[in-house]
Amino acid sequence: MAQFRLIFLLILLVSQSESAKTFTKARLQLMWKTFDCSANPSYISQHRCIILEPGKSLITSELNYIKDVIKFNATFKLFMPRRPSRPFQKVIDVNVDICQFAKGIHGHRFMTIVVKAFGKQGSQLKCPHPKGLYIYPNINIAENLPAFLPETDFKIEMNFITTDTHLFNTSLTGFLFDPIKKKSKTI
Ligand SMILES: *[C@@H]1O[C@H](CO)[C@@H](O)[C@H](O)[C@H]1NC(C)=O
Ligand SMILES: *[C@@H]1O[C@H](CO)[C@@H](O)[C@H](O)[C@H]1NC(C)=O
Repeated sequence: MAQFRLIFLLILLVSQSESAKTFTKARLQLMWKTFDCSANPSYISQHRCIILEPGKSLITSELNYIKDVIKFNATFKLFMPRRPSRPFQKVIDVNVDICQFAKGIHGHRFMTIVVKAFGKQGSQLKCPHPKGLYIYPNINIAENLPAFLPETDFKIEMNFITTDTHLFNTSLTGFLFDPIKKKSKTI
């Protein structure tokens, strides 16, 4: 049953993420637990990756690029347990050319959710990517997630790469929960 639900979820995620807005009533809330980043010092001199209080639903990231980046790919991996309290398994693994994506050439629906989450700062994902300080405040992934996702723990690994070099690796863990249920549990 859980497997079926997962497959169903993935099909919806890939095919219908655009219509997610019509399901807003049942929206789950997201809480981040960890946000780890590591940068390649030949491209990035300083970086900050933080989970914002209160609520821990937003994240902020700052990067100081000391070199221009001409080619820019992002790999995105999503891990979820197939059943509650089971080990994580990879359910999405995509590699997207950010330069093509920024031009509006279709990449992957799931990446559209991620790029939307960057909001106005999404335009900072343009190519070529000139050196300088990039600030991505209040990234809201939850707002753009489809509402039919199950309550679950999950992990995201997103790496930014150029030609053959890793620029920036991020790893996030968090969970989706129903705020109404959570409230009644704590009473
Ligand atoms: C990023 O991850 C890749 C693959 O896991 C690894 O080879 C690379 O050294 C990492 N780079 C940084 C800057 O952490
Ligand atoms: C970048 O993404 C494109 C499109 O998915 C892919 O064809 C290409 O091999 C990727 N390049 C790297 C360096 O991963």
